[in-house]
Amino acid sequence: MTKTIDLDEQARDILKMNDRGGYTIPTKGLYPYQWNWDSAFAALGFAQFNCARAWAELETLFSAQWADGMVPHIVFHKADPGYYPGPDVWGGTGPIPSSGITQPPIAATMARLIFEKDQSLGEEHMRTLFPKLRRWHSWFMQWRLDQGAVCVTHPWEAGRDNTPEWDAPMARIDPTDVGEYVRRDTQHVDGSMRPTKYDYDRYIWLVQMGRRLHWDQQKLLDENPFRVADPTMTFTLLRAQRDLLAMGQMLGLDVDGIAEEIEILEQGAQTLWNPEIESFDARDAHSGEWANCVSNASFLCWYAGLDSEGQTKQLQRVLDKVQYGVPSHDPESDKFDGRRYWRGPTWAVMNLLIGLGLEERNHPLAERVRIATKTLIEESGFSEYFDPTDGSAAGGQGFTWTAAVWLSWAGRT
Ligand code: GLC
Repeated sequence: MTKTIDLDEQARDILKMNDRGGYTIPTKGLYPYQWNWDSAFAALGFAQFNCARAWAELETLFSAQWADGMVPHIVFHKADPGYYPGPDVWGGTGPIPSSGITQPPIAATMARLIFEKDQSLGEEHMRTLFPKLRRWHSWFMQWRLDQGAVCVTHPWEAGRDNTPEWDAPMARIDPTDVGEYVRRDTQHVDGSMRPTKYDYDRYIWLVQMGRRLHWDQQKLLDENPFRVADPTMTFTLLRAQRDLLAMGQMLGLDVDGIAEEIEILEQGAQTLWNPEIESFDARDAHSGEWANCVSNASFLCWYAGLDSEGQTKQLQRVLDKVQYGVPSHDPESDKFDGRRYWRGPTWAVMNLLIGLGLEERNHPLAERVRIATKTLIEESGFSEYFDPTDGSAAGGQGFTWTAAVWLSWAGRT
């Protein structure tokens, strides 16, 4: 009991420590700016003790929304030379210096959860946010669909930077003209837990291409060799649209077209079912080839409101294989690497989304996912991610989103 109280306090302290006034950084040093989906998780964390602060987090994020509706993945409120690639490398064209790509759209879902905690104050905030969320979702619908599934145009967009799902499309990029640059991430965290130079060259090459094209979505559609229909984006957008529709209806707002878009996304989600491996999977939009990967994003189907017996079998299998799931990559795959970022480690935030979806459907594995997450945080603290085989801490420490997961879900008694 004492332990739980301490952890609640520690989690709140982490949120406060990483609060930069209206926005929260993921962790000091490694990630000194506002990240899109990190902020949405942070807002949910704040909502457990300060709803006004939770709404501010989302509003600050949307103050960086671009004219075309895109909401950037990083907002550079205040320059920090310790981070690369910074604002000058990205050349974002929004109202505040930012990156030129987006991240999984979980903000509408988090806003709905916050609203449920805080209906009196929440209504006005929801009314302000609604049209902005609607424009962001429409931007995805306009530019990012492949057979109704949602594509990423940079590995960082999925929020799962170096997952093996990108290996084949990344191999097609020739980054020889990328030039010299100095990575900063490996100055903060051991290189064995981070993406390799091979990956990084390609990340930067894609940023340089976007900048050259002024982040024009039509031009990117024509030129970008990296375009992958991704379960994270597809499932989170489908879920976000459902929440937006529900909120809009509740508040009597104009919800015209959202139900039709949900249908498109539902069909799109089904096109991500790979019958060969019997799992939801990523698909290269250029070649049509499957990634052939069971990742933690495959398990977001319930969060999106979709049941799947096949995916349940996969979840059972991976949870039986490692003690501290849900691993970001299949522990039986030869690409599994338990400490390298999105190639094996367990991420509390993904567990939260998976767990919420399972709980809502009264799935028998729901509690197992929550308890695994709770145990990880109790044993190893608020790390960025964890080794799923022994539960040890990995990546950055004092991490905002892990603290938010504790407060809002994992630490529940
Ligand atoms: C890493 C993660 C991404 C996250 C960011 C900030 O790039 O892969 O999902 O948003 O760090 O925490």
